[in-house]
Amino acid sequence: MLIEEAIRNRASIKVFSMEEVSADLIERCLDAAVWAPNHHMTEPWSFRVLTGDAREMLARVAKDEMVRRATGLDVAVAQAKAFKERQKLLSAPAIVAVYSDAGPDEKTTRENFAASAAAAQNILLMAQSLGLASIWRTSATYEYPGVRQALKVPEGSTFVGALFLGYSAQREVRRRRTPAAEKTLWITEDNPLA
Ligand SMILES: Cc1cc2nc3c(=O)[nH]c(=O)nc-3n(C[C@H](O)[C@H](O)[C@H](O)COP(=O)(O)O)c2cc1C
Repeated sequence: MLIEEAIRNRASIKVFSMEEVSADLIERCLDAAVWAPNHHMTEPWSFRVLTGDAREMLARVAKDEMVRRATGLDVAVAQAKAFKERQKLLSAPAIVAVYSDAGPDEKTTRENFAASAAAAQNILLMAQSLGLASIWRTSATYEYPGVRQALKVPEGSTFVGALFLGYSAQREVRRRRTPAAEKTLWITEDNPLA
């Protein structure tokens, strides 16, 4: 598949069939991730792959965290929130949570995050080229101390995204973008630096 095709045809998919994604396909996505550019070769990314029962286990840890943080009547609200989060976690057969290492200073940490986001996009594009559907999701779940501990996430690292992978069970989605030309200024002789 041409890279342009993968880029243009990738779409965020929210409804997946329950068909499993083979470990081989997930590994191919991860192998693509680590070829992302990264300053000073920090290779700041780390991945946590959740399939099958692991998603249910994560939902349980997240629920414990949500309920523990709630007080009084909020407990019912937290339980409802946890139920919704569980539904979400079980909606895709595979989830790749991406974390980015902290650097020795703020600049490096920021650059690491940019590199890890590029790695995440590599996963989405590789998934697209392998016929997989995907969505990049964020949620407080992956940042809870209990969840970080359960996932053995490196100390100080930042959550980048949870990439849900599977096979689409959704009708084609309509997507829209502002043309690049409207976001671009060409600096030329006729249109020089200010
Ligand atoms: C950093 C980031 C976080 C996102 N978080 C969510 C999310 O929590 N839930 C969700 O439905 N989509 C999430 N998305 C997906 C965007 O909503 C989606 O990319 C956007 O609507 C454009 O659609 P497209 O991916 O089909 O082009 C996220 C995307 C990015 C890059």
